[in-house]
Amino acid sequence: MSQTKTHKTLHGPAPESLGPVTSEEAQLLEKLDLTRLPRHVAVIMDGNGRWAQKRHLPRIAGHRSGAQSARTSIETCARLKIEALTLYAFSVENWRRPKTEIDFLMQLLREYLKNEMPLLQKNEIRMRFLGRIEELAPAVQKDVREAMEKTAGNKGMVLSVAVNYGGRAEIVDAMNAILSERNGNAASPQITEEQLARHLYTGGLPDPDLLIRTSGEMRLSNFLLWQIAYSEIFVTETLWPDFNRARLLEALVEFQKRERRYGGIREGQPDTERPARVAGE
Ligand code: FPP
Repeated sequence: MSQTKTHKTLHGPAPESLGPVTSEEAQLLEKLDLTRLPRHVAVIMDGNGRWAQKRHLPRIAGHRSGAQSARTSIETCARLKIEALTLYAFSVENWRRPKTEIDFLMQLLREYLKNEMPLLQKNEIRMRFLGRIEELAPAVQKDVREAMEKTAGNKGMVLSVAVNYGGRAEIVDAMNAILSERNGNAASPQITEEQLARHLYTGGLPDPDLLIRTSGEMRLSNFLLWQIAYSEIFVTETLWPDFNRARLLEALVEFQKRERRYGGIREGQPDTERPARVAGE
C-alpha cells in the first residue's frame, strides 16, 4: 500500500466521530479527504461461504460473521456522514440455496433488526428495503415494515438492505408501476429516465458513487443495474467477513483517486482533445 500523503481538508465531520482508531485506520484517514466522500456507497457482500469453508466451519458461520462486518460498515458510514449505504443481503437468485441456509439468512436479518435497533436510532439511520418484500414470509415482512416505521423520522444516513432483490425485477416493477399509474391513459407522454428512476425501489436516493464487491468476483450479479451506470467499481479479494473498518476506509481512499468523467472529458482539458464527434450529434 502506498504511503503517499495527499492533501486533507477537514471541513466535514471530524474523524473523532469514529472513536478510537487503529494505526492502520489512522494512516488511511490521513489520506482521506472527508469533504469528498461518496454520497452513496453500495456493497455486494460476497465470500461468506468461502470464509467459513477456509475455517472448516458451516456456511452459516460465515453469514453470522458477515453480519458483524455489515454492522461495522453501517456504523462507520453513518459516522462519516455518508448519505446512503445499500447492502445486497439476499437476491432473487438466492432462493436456490438450501432451505436451512435461506431460513438462517432470514433469521439473521430479523435478529439484526431487533438487536441493532438502538444503534440504528443512536446513529439517526433511516432504514429502507429494496426488493419484492411482499414475497417474504409474513414474520419477516412484519419486522421489515416495523424497522422502516421506527426509523422513518431519522435524519441521518439512509441504510437500504436489498432483500429478495433483483435488478431486472426492479426495472420491470418500475415499468409496471408506471403503467398502472397511467391507467389506460393512451395520451400519456413517453416514459423518461427521470420517471423510471423515481419508480425504482431506490426512488429519491442519489445513484451510488461507489460500488464495492468483496471476494474478488468481477460480476454485478443483477445488483442496481440501472443505478450503477456511472458508479466507480471497487473489487477487493477480501472476503466479506474480513471486510473491517480499515478495508472500508481503503475503498474510500481508492474512490478518491478515481477521475469521474460521466462520459465527458477531464475538466480543464483544451477543446482540441474533445472527440471529433459525439454520439447523437
Ligand atoms: C454472499 O456470500 C452473502 C450472502 C448471500 C448473504 C449476505 C448476508 C449477510 C452478510 C448478513 C445479513 C445482512 C445484514 C444487513 C444483517 P456467499 O454465501 O455467496 O459466499 P460464497 O460465494 O463464498 O459462497
